Amino acid sequence: MRPVPEPSESIARPAVAAGPPWVLVTGAARRLGRAVSLHFARAGWNVLAHYRHSAEAADRLRAEIQQLGQSCHLVQADLVLPDAARRVLDTAAAELDQMPRCLVNNASLFAADDARTASAVQLQKHLSTNTVTPLLLANELAQRVPADAAPGWHSVVHVLDQKVHNLNPDYFSYTVSKLALAGSVALQAQALAPRVRVCGLSPGLMFPSGPQSQDNFDRASRVNLLRRAIDVDDVARCALFIAENSSINGSIVQADNGQHLVPLQRDVMFAVDEAGRVRS
Ligand SMILES: NC(=O)c1ccc[n+]([C@@H]2O[C@H](COP(=O)([O-])OP(=O)(O)OC[C@H]3O[C@@H](n4cnc5c(N)ncnc54)[C@H](OP(=O)(O)O)[C@@H]3O)[C@@H](O)[C@H]2O)c1
Repeated sequence: MRPVPEPSESIARPAVAAGPPWVLVTGAARRLGRAVSLHFARAGWNVLAHYRHSAEAADRLRAEIQQLGQSCHLVQADLVLPDAARRVLDTAAAELDQMPRCLVNNASLFAADDARTASAVQLQKHLSTNTVTPLLLANELAQRVPADAAPGWHSVVHVLDQKVHNLNPDYFSYTVSKLALAGSVALQAQALAPRVRVCGLSPGLMFPSGPQSQDNFDRASRVNLLRRAIDVDDVARCALFIAENSSINGSIVQADNGQHLVPLQRDVMFAVDEAGRVRS
């Protein structure tokens, strides 16, 4: 008779039970990063919250997480810098009782340009912040997780964008940087296995950005198959789901109300205004 396999939960659990797991969230102080951090904390995780400029918002996040009964440490870093990944993981090693079980690469630069006007500086800044450092953070984590960690226990969630599944040439440098990160999900999942799982999470439009007015956002946020705004907590829930489901590896989860199935010639923030002008 064949032996009965162990339940996957016990396969994935490390041999020595430690305290609550830690999640490292980059750009944690505001918007999606804050929602992800609070969602993990409510589920019993401790949070290493990375921020760059938003020190006060990061302090407030830490207080809220502590009120939930979880630990929260802050780490400040500019992720455009080449040694940022090593510095952030050095902080994790120095301050936490264990390496983060999950890394959510959420921080990102989103500056307007298009394919014809993209400059070397903008391309390089987007690639450094949105592609290179997230990939190096994942590599640093993989190098530092305990050698006897159970396969599937540690994971990386690269936050992408529905744009990578629904291309238009606006926000060109940003889109190129997220396309490279999306393409790296499978490569990094192969390279870092079995120590770390690597997945992507592609939200649709969640918050007003850059010059976008509230009125433009209200119209643009309903340009998806469900014709309603995306629930940010649903996106945060997906990150936790990836972190806690040890069978998901090398996959990209799309949490966008089906926005990626609504092709547009331009970024949705420009497309809704152009559509309004055509109608009037
Ligand atoms: N917003 C949307 O509707 C939308 C749609 C699709 C996908 N996404 C993706 O979802 C994620 C979160 O979106 P979001 O709108 O919440 O992000 P966001 O507000 O544009 O940026 C999040 C944080 O990234 C940090 N950041 C930016 N440049 C940095 C740098 N050089 N070094 C360190 N940190 C840096 C900032 O931290 P500080 O404030 O501390 O400086 C910022 O608060 C991003 O990956 C984005 O690409 C967003």
